[in-house]
Amino acid sequence: MAIQWYPGHMTLARKKAAETMALTDVVIEVVDARLPEASSNPMIHELRLHRQRPCLKLLNKADMADPGVTKAWLTFFNRQPGVKAVAISCKKPSDVAKVPKLCLALAPHRDDNLKPLRMMIMGIPNVGKSTLMNALVKRRVAAVGDEPAVTKTQQRFDLNARMMLVDTPGMLWPKIEHPSDGLMLAASHAVGRNAVIDEEVAVFLGDILLARYAGLVSARYGFSSKGMDGAGLLEAVARKRGCLLKGKGGEPDLEKAAMLLLTDYRSGALGRVSLETPESRTAMLNAPVTAVPEEV
Ligand code: G4P
Repeated sequence: MAIQWYPGHMTLARKKAAETMALTDVVIEVVDARLPEASSNPMIHELRLHRQRPCLKLLNKADMADPGVTKAWLTFFNRQPGVKAVAISCKKPSDVAKVPKLCLALAPHRDDNLKPLRMMIMGIPNVGKSTLMNALVKRRVAAVGDEPAVTKTQQRFDLNARMMLVDTPGMLWPKIEHPSDGLMLAASHAVGRNAVIDEEVAVFLGDILLARYAGLVSARYGFSSKGMDGAGLLEAVARKRGCLLKGKGGEPDLEKAAMLLLTDYRSGALGRVSLETPESRTAMLNAPVTAVPEEV
């Protein structure tokens, strides 16, 4: 699947982020708790390491993720040097209230009355950066929207006399190395609707749901999914919900069923689901690369 998703403003955003990194004490990286590695931009990691800045990794939308899997991810990330990982929901003010203190703990040298602590919020589109920013500043300073890449310019705010915050535009990277990462990002709406084919993404999502959350699927759609694969699930959802193509003898409308499944996952209607675990990630990284046959 060819996905084009690197608009020009993202190149500019990277340049600006690199400049701001030099003037930052702590990077707050927001990722989606349901796909914390796939939604982590390797460019952010690279910029951060170049300047040796510590990172508060926020596994956001934890309210929608599988709690057991989130716990495993926290253990995984908290083993990494210079990283403190916590699971939060930016929609919960009590969760957000913990963020400044956690940042200060990562840069104790700024805990004096001389220089303010400089924090920088980074992350790919649609992980909740604007929601976090608004909750930290306690007013609506950033546009929240489920369509990716709503924030396009950097914003800077004083939280108090001792803390300063910079919000950066959502940044994607030019080449997504693993196709499954692209599909997870698409399923979670970090890449725009026009960039991907809903049906392919929904089949991928369906396969994960059937492998790990068959109970949630049955509870939502009211049929047993035993023996089905992702494509079969789409067909069954189409029939169950009456999504049929007009004038085609009752053929299932798979595009409509794909949107139904994706919307149910994105809205949390399916329940708490995680798309990757530390184990599935390791297995994916260790899997032999299958050669793509050359076109004749
Ligand atoms: P961004 O700046 O990183 O692009 O993300 P943004 O804050 O715009 O958030 C993207 C969507 O994710 C918004 O949904 C927002 O409400 C939702 N969101 C952010 N944090 C959380 C969280 O912790 N839990 C859940 N469940 N959702 C979260 P939206 O549908 O566009 O807006 P809304 O109708 O929810 O306000």
